[in-house]
Amino acid sequence: MKLSLIRDLKSLRLVLKDPEAVGPDPAYWVFSEIGGLWNNITLIAPGNYNGEFPKTFGHYHETHVNEKIHVIEGKGVMLLQKRLVENGNPISEKIEEVICIKAKAGDEIIVPFEYGHSWYNTSDEPLILFDDWSAGHVPGDYKEIGRLQGMAYYITDNNGIDVLKNSNYTIVPQIKWLTVEEFSKRRLPK
Ligand SMILES: [Fe+2]
Repeated sequence: MKLSLIRDLKSLRLVLKDPEAVGPDPAYWVFSEIGGLWNNITLIAPGNYNGEFPKTFGHYHETHVNEKIHVIEGKGVMLLQKRLVENGNPISEKIEEVICIKAKAGDEIIVPFEYGHSWYNTSDEPLILFDDWSAGHVPGDYKEIGRLQGMAYYITDNNGIDVLKNSNYTIVPQIKWLTVEEFSKRRLPK
């Protein structure tokens, strides 16, 4: 097993609602080459960044491969967003669909490759995830999320889970809150 990523607060600030916020630092760790059925483990610290729950940076998959994720410990919300495609090109500021899924230990989610995704730790304990991603990441996976200061919504702690739209996006539909079961029943792209 190797430690493949430490996401410190300095680099996470690029995608926080409040880039000046203080909170857990590092925000999360990714361990790779873990052996067995899974390829990576991600551990997201509990805490708060001026009202926003700790999260992963968020990324797209430029390699068109789905990803399977298994929640080992903790509770969180997975935020997924699909970009509108115009003339064959995805437009990062324009979002066709936003889905949020509340997940807990034992849940599994398959992420269709068209959906950018980020995990939020909404509990007081670490959120620990397995995933089967083996294709690695290129800078382009993160670039547009960074340029737009995060995903289309921020998930905040307002005496419970709340959301705030990211004003850097021009088209943002309402969030569809789905259970893990509801999401798994949706037809996956071929
Ligand atoms: Fe991914």
